[in-house]
Amino acid sequence: MFPEVRLRRLRKTEGIRNMLNTPLPGPEKFMWPTFVIDGEDKREAIDSMPGQYRLSIDQLLKELDPLVETGIGSVLLFGLAEDSEKDFQGSEAYNENGTVQRAISAVKKEFPDLIVAADACVCAYTEHGHCGPLTDSGDVDNDTAIENLAKICVSQAAAGADIVAPSAMMDGQVLAIREGLDEAGLIDTILMSYSTKFASSMYGPFRDAEKSQPGKGDRKGYQASYGDLRTALRESELDEMEGADMLMIKPSIFYLDILARMREATDLPIAAYNVSGEYSMLHATAQRGWGDLKAMVQESTLALTRAGADILISYWANQYNEFFKD
Ligand code: PBG
Ligand code: ZN
Repeated sequence: MFPEVRLRRLRKTEGIRNMLNTPLPGPEKFMWPTFVIDGEDKREAIDSMPGQYRLSIDQLLKELDPLVETGIGSVLLFGLAEDSEKDFQGSEAYNENGTVQRAISAVKKEFPDLIVAADACVCAYTEHGHCGPLTDSGDVDNDTAIENLAKICVSQAAAGADIVAPSAMMDGQVLAIREGLDEAGLIDTILMSYSTKFASSMYGPFRDAEKSQPGKGDRKGYQASYGDLRTALRESELDEMEGADMLMIKPSIFYLDILARMREATDLPIAAYNVSGEYSMLHATAQRGWGDLKAMVQESTLALTRAGADILISYWANQYNEFFKD
């Protein structure tokens, strides 16, 4: 006890602090989520997400060049559909020749060592904006939705995706996708499930970027409920049993307790999705002069590593040199 014990000894100099601290994650831990659109030479700034864009494939390749140079490990692709391409099922999401499928091939061709992941869901492709077709009562039809998710993942894996990432929070989606991939002979594709994904108020800027706001209602009937810790943990446990290769927690900064619990419960890799609202919140604070952006980015990102995340799905990834290098 004091005065023999003085913890300040352990943080007296920068050298000692550096020796004891969990280091900031290297670029290889980052997966950059980004938005691909049809056409050429398109680079649309997303107002609610400073530093993020909707990119046509040629622009995406340009944007990726310096990131690959930096050593960013991976990219997570999201597609968008025109209103005229949207339908009840969201069938454009499994078009073999769809924008995302073409983007996957183009990125793998240009950067064979960059790990390419693709988000699998239909909310940006359905006219009603939900993550699966609806029943007469307006609920999402789970068992049809998972067949569609399997088709999406097979089309993405066939295009060359290293990782498919279903985000719909349907029961049985991992099993249905794994069966679909195996039947298609795509045995090497990694299945990274959005295993514990909450019905969150922090997806606003993303839905703005993706134009994927549900027309009517919300996603509380399928995405996890943030007040129910045990069911949230079961979501990830079941996905592991169904054959997921990687698990995910989403959002992440508001859910460090659950991330830490998952870390105790599984030996699968865990990805933490630092979502759009968490990203834009720090930008908004900095813009008002109420906090230093770089310091906030480092502190919030290290929280994820410390809590046990292996993979950081983060919009800061395309600004790695600015925020994570001295
Ligand atoms: C769609 C999907 C969402 C996000 C990733 N995939 C939004 C939602 O579920 O409404 C959110 C990502 C973010 O906010 O950064 N299934
Ligand atoms: Zn969705």
